[in-house]
Amino acid sequence: MTAKNILILAGDGIGPEVMTQVKRIIDWMNGKGLTNFVVSEGLVGGCSYDAHGTPLTDETMQRAMDADAVLLGAVGGPKWDNLDFSLKPERGLLRLRKDMELFANLRPALVFDALAEASSLKLELVKGLDIMIVRELTGGVYFGQPRGIETLPNGERRGINTQVYTTSEIIRVAEVAFDLARKRGSKVHSVEKANVMESGLLWREEVQKLRDAKYQDVHLEHMYADNCAMQLVRTPRQFDVIVTDNLFGDLLSDCAAMLTGSLGMLPSASLGGDLGGGKRRALYEPVHGSAPDIAGQNKANPLACILSYSMMLRYSFGLLKEADLLDQAAQNVLNAGIRTGDIMAAGCTPVGTDGMGDAILAELTKLHG
Ligand SMILES: NC(=O)c1ccc[n+]([C@@H]2O[C@H](COP(=O)([O-])OP(=O)(O)OC[C@H]3O[C@@H](n4cnc5c(N)ncnc54)[C@H](O)[C@@H]3O)[C@@H](O)[C@H]2O)c1
Repeated sequence: MTAKNILILAGDGIGPEVMTQVKRIIDWMNGKGLTNFVVSEGLVGGCSYDAHGTPLTDETMQRAMDADAVLLGAVGGPKWDNLDFSLKPERGLLRLRKDMELFANLRPALVFDALAEASSLKLELVKGLDIMIVRELTGGVYFGQPRGIETLPNGERRGINTQVYTTSEIIRVAEVAFDLARKRGSKVHSVEKANVMESGLLWREEVQKLRDAKYQDVHLEHMYADNCAMQLVRTPRQFDVIVTDNLFGDLLSDCAAMLTGSLGMLPSASLGGDLGGGKRRALYEPVHGSAPDIAGQNKANPLACILSYSMMLRYSFGLLKEADLLDQAAQNVLNAGIRTGDIMAAGCTPVGTDGMGDAILAELTKLHG
């Protein structure tokens, strides 16, 4: 196995705490010969501002561009809240996403059996839920021109944002969704508002054309975004892969995430274009933030970060067996009733961040030897 370079940017708050547990797992997998990862670390967010006066240095940015995959913890915290907009910790994260051209954001909404009771929906609706939302991340109304706030001749003010998509932007993110569907349940729901938006109509037409040309084995359905929001809380198990634009994806992925219980359980991946030889830029990170309210107290749930690492194994390196092994270990630990505070339930065993890491490692050893 050739060595792969992983850049770890643990960030602020609970970022370094949860990342410590991931590094233990990386060491364990390297030690067992399951992976051959060379890990280097860098600063992003508030800690980078403190050290270098910027939330991301050019040097760290270049290392991210050169890495085979980047794993990020979380950024931000009250200490840096009053900085100028351009220096805020989040700008480091946004620059990583932008310069790496990460146009496809993958947000799984997966309900672990042991946690199904924690969902806001009834158990029978969410048990076994496994949805993958693919959100377009670099286009659409968050970036479209013209934008701004202007004053009209009559003194009234007008705010403008532009929803805009080109065929190539639609096709590249739809390809990611169809490729994923082929490895899952072979079903894609493409979500827009083609009834009231031309950009939505173009989205619908291009996704259909792509499916007919290249992905006839995948079942495709089109759905309006408002209906999708309703269906997600009505019968969420009808979905396999959902592909949608930046704005609708922002809302729908958060909605789907909450079907699954805690923020501390949610991983994500952001993928860039194919660089040839099966390589693509990729950033993996938990959905949660730096949780300043519990930082430094050994209370954070490391599973979102650990499951983000599992996504890295799966999507950057095709290490499916290793990813399955780690997912199974997490499942077994939860089934055994081991819980951090955010997912605690009656009769379960409370552990801290370290304790959850210990339990995952013990389970990996039990499953693999
Ligand atoms: N991707 C990122 O790095 C990212 C994302 C969101 C927010 N932020 C930043 O994080 C800071 C805090 O933001 P916030 O409080 O709105 O969101 P947050 O996700 O940090 O925390 C929200 C709540 O969830 C809890 N929580 C989050 N992750 C947890 C975990 N792994 N285990 C247990 N509990 C967990 C926190 O204790 C808190 O009560 C802000 O500076 C914000 O800008 C960063």
